[in-house]
Amino acid sequence: MSGPRILAIESSCDETGVAVVVGGRRIEANQVATQVALHAATGGIVPEIAARQQLRWIIPMLEAALETSGADWGALDAVAVTYGPGLIGSLLVGVNLAKALAVVHDLPLVGVNHIEGHIYANWLTDAPADEPLPPEPEFPLLCLVVSGGHTQLVLMHDHGRYTLLGQTVDDAAGEAFDKVGRLLDLPYPGGPAISEAAVGAIPATRFPRARTDGPYDFSFSGLKTAVGREVAGYRERGEPIPVDGIAAAFEEAVVDALASKTVVAAREHGVAAVALGGGVAANRVLRATLAERLAADGLPLLVPPPAWCTDNGAMIGAAAGFRFAAGDRADASLEAIPNLALPWLEAP
Ligand code: KG4
Ligand code: ZN
Repeated sequence: MSGPRILAIESSCDETGVAVVVGGRRIEANQVATQVALHAATGGIVPEIAARQQLRWIIPMLEAALETSGADWGALDAVAVTYGPGLIGSLLVGVNLAKALAVVHDLPLVGVNHIEGHIYANWLTDAPADEPLPPEPEFPLLCLVVSGGHTQLVLMHDHGRYTLLGQTVDDAAGEAFDKVGRLLDLPYPGGPAISEAAVGAIPATRFPRARTDGPYDFSFSGLKTAVGREVAGYRERGEPIPVDGIAAAFEEAVVDALASKTVVAAREHGVAAVALGGGVAANRVLRATLAERLAADGLPLLVPPPAWCTDNGAMIGAAAGFRFAAGDRADASLEAIPNLALPWLEAP
């Protein structure tokens, strides 16, 4: 074993994740309970239901993670937990459990920012303990974090050192996928449903790309309105809605906006590589388009497997590994912070 063995808890939204990660890199267990099927009935997340489901699943996930890893409490070096950003009711479940476990088992507590977790998913490996670790991502690293709640372009100078280059001025990329999914009567969550519908489809139109004040900011709400107008047009004319074609046109517009700005930022800041994180990083077209455009500049694209892109405990264990090594410790005063931000450094 190399490095601390950390029990990591993620409960910021509608996934309940508990993992055991060694040295911020090796996954020994990564149990996730998702509420997707439940929220499909309402077409979106109802925060009170999400919090109640966190309570329902957190102990079973904890037990499953401990059993899978084979680690008993004596073999653990710390307990880590997401304390923001996220839904307050959901966050509280994980934070309170982590605090209780740390006290009862006399283990240090590490608080982790959820966005940092998405970034550190790029450090994870499930290689067996007797195999060497894959190489670590190199700095400076440009990170595109695209989830249901966030869209941020982050320049990572070193472990724990970040500059925010740009972010969405309105909807997050995943939120846009989910809202457009609803406009097209596709099942929740919209992201996977839209990318499925778009496979092999010819774009039905070309949606406009948004202009933003900041060179690395994003805006998706105008695009969502444009999709709504397009759908309404077909309805008014009594024509069948070309769902697949509209899904393809929408996906193309989102991916183009994300990829273009990321490539320009990568060039301007002379980064060693670009890393993706967050649920939308599971999108096949985004992965392929970005990889192709970066390859033209000789830059590698790092992308975690889809299961580590969407919310999970392992990514929190990865970020916690580096926070723990840096001496970061929380205590029983740790509070859930719904709008928690990373401690941004000034632009270089
Ligand atoms: O990171 P995540 O699991 O939760 C948050 O922290 O928000 O991201 C969930 C988001 C949802 O909006 C979902 O529609 C989107 O990720 N998503 C996708 C895909 N898979 C999940 N978006 C586009 N394409 C996908 N394949
Ligand atoms: Zn997330």
